[in-house]
Formats: sequence, structure tokens, C-alpha cells
Amino acid sequence: MASFIVLLGAPGAGKGTQAEILAKRTGLPHISSGDIFRENLKKQTELGKLAQKYMSKGELVPDDVTIAMIKERLSRPDCAKGAILDGFPRTPAQAKALDEMLAELGGKVVAVPFIKVPEEELVDRLSGRLVCKANGHIFHKKYNPPKVPGICDYDGSELYQREDDKPEVVRNRIRVYLEQTAPLIDFYRARGLLVEIDGNQPIEKVTEDLWNALPDEVKAQ
Ligand code: AP5
Repeated sequence: MASFIVLLGAPGAGKGTQAEILAKRTGLPHISSGDIFRENLKKQTELGKLAQKYMSKGELVPDDVTIAMIKERLSRPDCAKGAILDGFPRTPAQAKALDEMLAELGGKVVAVPFIKVPEEELVDRLSGRLVCKANGHIFHKKYNPPKVPGICDYDGSELYQREDDKPEVVRNRIRVYLEQTAPLIDFYRARGLLVEIDGNQPIEKVTEDLWNALPDEVKAQ
């Protein structure tokens, strides 16, 4: 049965950073709903243009649109053994839809690491974040700087600051997270899947704790 990991955490908690590392280590694909929306926006698809209206304000893209997009993504062959989900599910309706999709696909959620970071630290992380234009590799001006300023270490593309990392949008993203996504913490805790990870540590230490929290079936992929 395919094994899916759901990374939970506030905006800036380090989900994308850790998902990238775990994907390399496990061989499972990293699926980020935010990256798929941004990719669509770059290509100016209808989905991208629609998503942008919500993302620019820090609001969530409507459930029906997001669920359909993820359902299509998870049905692709590279998810046959599972995936690392980053940013989805983000509402109780999305969590329910995920269960239904995985039941159809013959998979299940096997662990839900919840990366905890204090709120004041989140703003600092997001305001210093740099992302590469070609592939979305993540850096931080202070905590994870690129070797050459402004250039991605991995593919040489230009680094930019995300539109929604402006302080006023960040504050709304955190508010939306607390209202709409935080209820998933109890949802997955009640199912015995939640593992709390201290995200307020150096990146390598967070990875170590996450790795130790993963079930053996995922590590052996
Ligand atoms: P999305 O792209 O998913 O953004 P997010 O969840 O707000 O998360 P972030 O990408 O901001 O943070 P992260 O936790 O991945 O942190 P990162 O690793 O980059 O969503 C964007 C928008 O798309 C949403 O607002 C919404 O509009 C829409 N959307 C997406 N999914 C949706 C869904 N399911 N339903 C509806 N709408 C949806 O790290 C942050 C920074 O900190 C980086 O600079 C990094 O280098 C640094 N850092 C990481 N770890 C550490 C550490 N341990 N110590 C110091 N610095 C660190």
C-alpha cells in the first residue's frame, strides 16, 4: 500500500525545506500545493490566474479547485509508492477528500509530522526567504544563504522574494492558518498519526527529528 506523509505547520515553519530533503532521502515525490499554484501562475493557466486572486491576499484557494488539482497530481505514476505532501490538506474538507482519494488509489496517510515554530520566528523566516525562479529551491538571507548572493546553488537560476511574503500578507496567512488549518492538528492526533517536531532548531536537527519520526516502511522506499 502506498504511504503518504502529511507535513503540517504554519507558513514559514519549514515544510518546504524539509519536504525537499525527505523527498531526496526517501525517493518519494514532494508535492506542494503552493508550488503547483505558482507553477500554474508562471504559465498563466486559468488555474494559476484564479489561485493568484487568493494567494496575493493570503487567503486559501477554494477547496473544490484545490482538491481536484491534488487528485489529478496523486493519480500520476510517480505517486504509486506514496508522496510527501506539503501544504495539503489545509482544511477539514481537504483532509476528508484526501482520505477518499487515497482509498481509491490504494494508499494511506502513515504519519503527520507537525513542525512547531513560535509565531514571532515565522515572520522573520518569511521576510528573509529567497526562492529560485526555475525550481522553487528555498533559501534564507540569514539562516540558509546561497553560496553566491541572488543565485540558486542547485540550478544557477535567479532568486526572488515571494509576493505573499510581504509583512501584511504574512500576518493574514498566519491568521488563516490558525483559523482553518490548525484544527487538523487535533484531527490527526485523534487518529494517532500526529508527531510533534520542534521546528525552532537548525535545519539539520529538524531533519534528524523528522527522520526518526517516520515509519520504517517510508525509510525503506
Ligand atoms: P504555500 O506555498 O503552501 O505556503 P505556506 O504553507 O504558507 O508555507 P510556506 O511555503 O510559506 O512555508 P514553509 O513551511 O514551506 O517554509 P519554508 O520551508 O519555505 O501556500 C501559499 C498559498 O497558496 C497559500 O497562502 C494559499 O493561498 C495557497 N494554497 C496552498 N495550498 C493550499 C491548499 N491546500 N488549500 C488552499 N489554498 C492553498 O521555510 C521558510 C523560510 O525559513 C525559508 O527561508 C527557509 O530557508 C527558512 N527555514 C526553514 N527551516 C528553518 C530552520 N529550521 N531554521 C531557520 N530557518 C529555516
